[in-house]
Amino acid sequence: MKIAVVGTGYVGLVTGTCFAEVGIDVTCIDIDQRKIDNLCQGVLPIYEPGLEEMVTRNVDKGRLHFSTELAGAVQDCDVAFIAVGTPPGEDGSADLQYVLAVARGIGEHLSSYSVIVTKSTVPVGTAAKVRAEIEKALAKRGESIEFDVASNPEFLKEGAAIDDFLKPDRIVVGVSSERAEEVMTKLYKPFLLNGHPIIFMDIPSAEMTKYAANAMLATKISFMNDVANLCEIMGADVNMVRRGIGSDARIGTKFIYPGIGYGGSCFPKDVKALIRTAHENGYDMQVLRAVESVNDDQKSVLFNKVSKHFSGKLKGLKIALWGLSFKPKTDDMREAPSLVIIEKLLVAGCTVSAYDPVAMKEAEHLLGSSIAYAKDEFDALIDADALLVVTEWPEFRVPNFAVVSRLMKQKVIFDGRNIYDARELKELGFAYHCIGIQTTHPEPAFAAKARL
Ligand code: UDX
Repeated sequence: MKIAVVGTGYVGLVTGTCFAEVGIDVTCIDIDQRKIDNLCQGVLPIYEPGLEEMVTRNVDKGRLHFSTELAGAVQDCDVAFIAVGTPPGEDGSADLQYVLAVARGIGEHLSSYSVIVTKSTVPVGTAAKVRAEIEKALAKRGESIEFDVASNPEFLKEGAAIDDFLKPDRIVVGVSSERAEEVMTKLYKPFLLNGHPIIFMDIPSAEMTKYAANAMLATKISFMNDVANLCEIMGADVNMVRRGIGSDARIGTKFIYPGIGYGGSCFPKDVKALIRTAHENGYDMQVLRAVESVNDDQKSVLFNKVSKHFSGKLKGLKIALWGLSFKPKTDDMREAPSLVIIEKLLVAGCTVSAYDPVAMKEAEHLLGSSIAYAKDEFDALIDADALLVVTEWPEFRVPNFAVVSRLMKQKVIFDGRNIYDARELKELGFAYHCIGIQTTHPEPAFAAKARL
């Protein structure tokens, strides 16, 4: 089989590379010449564990190609994926101009039957617009080449994208013909060996599935953050409550970890877009509006704790930050809680010294010289009045607390991800604050033993 993947962003690059990995001939297209030149040399625009090696291996094997020429790639491909960006407009709706421009380009160059698949997260109804755009371009050429459109949303998690692609929980495909269903079944066969299903449905349902999945996950997180905040007020321990409810299979143990709010490129954008789509169609997604509002507030929770601990006297304090990316194993800082926290600290007159294992370059690009960039996690702590744990990178989980306390000016830790043991830190002489547990209260919060 031969496929084209248009757009070498996160989704396009992982998709194209993983298809090449199972032996399919893949051409990845992008309009950005520099990006394509870099990719040809094995230089990736994003960090994703394992991806660089996989790109290099498949380029060397001659199965993975990078080009700016849409024409050559789509002319005789079996499937063309559209994986370009759909940035949110001012009003929160997804901007489809790039998706539709690619559709037009495909229509201008298609030479035989092909399935054109939207892989980007796009609102319900987009596949129909893609079809119309291709038809228009074909009509202009005076051609009547047969093609199908399909919707195949991705469910990749940053930091685990390759595994998610190679061993998916499920593959969702929206189609409107048997021929397209056959092509898509053949394409995905190598990824179904773990027994998980490919679920075919109509196109609007597939488009909606992606939004509903992300919105449901975002809802779980905001719900737990709300519960955590109440636990803190009421003297309950959210870790206990999480374990207590998570063991009910109907609720499940995943995605119920409280923290400092969800970030990244998907949840914030997709929740906004679904609220917007509903509104445009005369429906009010009340739950999702609350999910979004709880999340906005949650990004300030750690700063509010800092402010409370220091009785509002923050001017001149040096704050160390561990973690900048929106979650571990990525350098992505889109909608990261760290950005909100840093802004509030700087406005309050603090200086910030931050360390992240991979997001330092990205942070410097976004924040310039407004903060100091530490060499490593311990360098960030020198003379710090407080440490804020913002991203739960594995290397922050068991630090040498003797070194931590020696380096810091004041022994105060604000743990936005609940990775430390409150009792242990208290014994080591730290003032310790986390999410959803009253750590400043002498008992019974410190009696809590159940961790993870
Ligand atoms: C998400 C979806 O998981 C994925 O299926 C979809 O394709 C894209 O969006 P991603 O944005 O990479 O993936 O990150 P994910 O691991 O889902 O985490 C999203 C955010 O939720 C992070 O900010 C994370 O810290 C937060 N989170 C997650 C919590 O606060 N608590 C949890 O229990 C889980």
